[in-house]
Amino acid sequence: MGTVWAEPYKIKMVEPIRITSVEERHAAIREAGYNTFLLRSDDVYIDLLTDSGTSAMSDRQWAGLMLGDESYAGSRSYYHLEEAMRGVYGYEELVPTHQGRGAEHLLSQILIEPGDTVPGNMYFTTTRFHQEYAGGRFADVIVDSAHDPAALDPFKGNVDLTKLQALIDEVGADRIPYLSLETNVNMAGGQPVSMANLQATYELCRQHGILVMLDATRALENAWFIKQREDGYADRSVAEILREICSYSDGATVSSKKDNLVNIGGFLALRDPELARQARALLVAFEGLHTYGGMSGRDMEALARGIEEMVETDDHIRARVGQVEYLGNKLLEAGIPIVQPIGGHGVFLDARAMLSHLPQDQFPAQALAAEIYVESGVRGMERGVVSAGRDPVTGDHHYPELELVRLTIPRRVYTQAHMDVVVEAVRQVHTNRDAVRGLRFTHEPESLRFFQARFEPIE
Ligand SMILES: Cc1ncc(COP(=O)(O)O)c(C=O)c1O
Repeated sequence: MGTVWAEPYKIKMVEPIRITSVEERHAAIREAGYNTFLLRSDDVYIDLLTDSGTSAMSDRQWAGLMLGDESYAGSRSYYHLEEAMRGVYGYEELVPTHQGRGAEHLLSQILIEPGDTVPGNMYFTTTRFHQEYAGGRFADVIVDSAHDPAALDPFKGNVDLTKLQALIDEVGADRIPYLSLETNVNMAGGQPVSMANLQATYELCRQHGILVMLDATRALENAWFIKQREDGYADRSVAEILREICSYSDGATVSSKKDNLVNIGGFLALRDPELARQARALLVAFEGLHTYGGMSGRDMEALARGIEEMVETDDHIRARVGQVEYLGNKLLEAGIPIVQPIGGHGVFLDARAMLSHLPQDQFPAQALAAEIYVESGVRGMERGVVSAGRDPVTGDHHYPELELVRLTIPRRVYTQAHMDVVVEAVRQVHTNRDAVRGLRFTHEPESLRFFQARFEPIE
């Protein structure tokens, strides 16, 4: 097969999409307060808002929906899910939740005491929200190269062990309940952690009695990059690599809406039965009984099948990441500044470089996402100062180094021709970039503001 990738499936059912006019899109984005989260999907042509819950399920998964066991307690589909999770991720205890943030909520509540510090390899929006909601403080210990969109480091998701050690010395290991270790770091552009770094981080944490909790939402994509880039892994299957990733942790939160190929679902996985007992005690109050969490039986059946399917052979992940790299390489050829190396779940445009005439407090990435939509009907999203929110203590904006527009690719949904349309759209906006105006808030929600904020252009 060489280096050529092709989708390891053929298409059995299609969903029509509509191309709108520029006038319609101008009206739609104004109506949406220049926030692509507030657009109606009917007004979108190619939807690259997120890879979350937007995957196409296989015929086997759809068949599983019909076979889902909707028993309130002890559902057969729960036991299938438990078996799949144990077999693929290798954790013993399964706590099912409605999606990833449900698992983050439970984990934060059982482990964080007010005043604690939770280090992590870059923040994620909902993860940090739940850490702060439980009274904790997030501390970034990712390597410096993660903050530089042009740095060609193959493992920009790595933990900087010197930063971690300095934090332990500063606050004391007893005020660090766990390290939150994200695989294929979303906010850094879908950048992987190396196996050597996972192992070394786990060792250091163990020496200090600090747990390591993975955000294994995109661990499969991380496994693929380890196979491609790390010595000694080229001949291992992604299934084996994924198991090894998880072996350097005490548990994981997973949003199953990504790697796991379902439209809804998630789980908390743990090794320690006592921690699992505590999580299940909260589960019944916040999500549902311990044999369904927030999912229906059919959701769990489709999820169990998605987990098995994603690692059945390496062909799925090869094609998934291959498509993302196809888009990224075309954009690079067109001279568009993007985060490099190209990530696993999307291509991240460097809005700071592209719209260098806009200061960060005029939200260049938000403005760029809106402009790309108006130009083409392609919907991406902001990952910059708006997503970063405000410091809860000072009330000032967090100003992240990375001011990005994320073009996220749903799994098994779009074709190479769709990717070519996206390249053309971004190229057009890049040509006319000097005309793009900055934005200001007309409505700013208190938390997770990027979801529902509204803006207007600055005259
Ligand atoms: C890395 C990461 N963690 C957690 C979450 C939260 O998961 P969910 O959206 O299923 O609540 C997401 C979702 O976007 C994510 O990308």
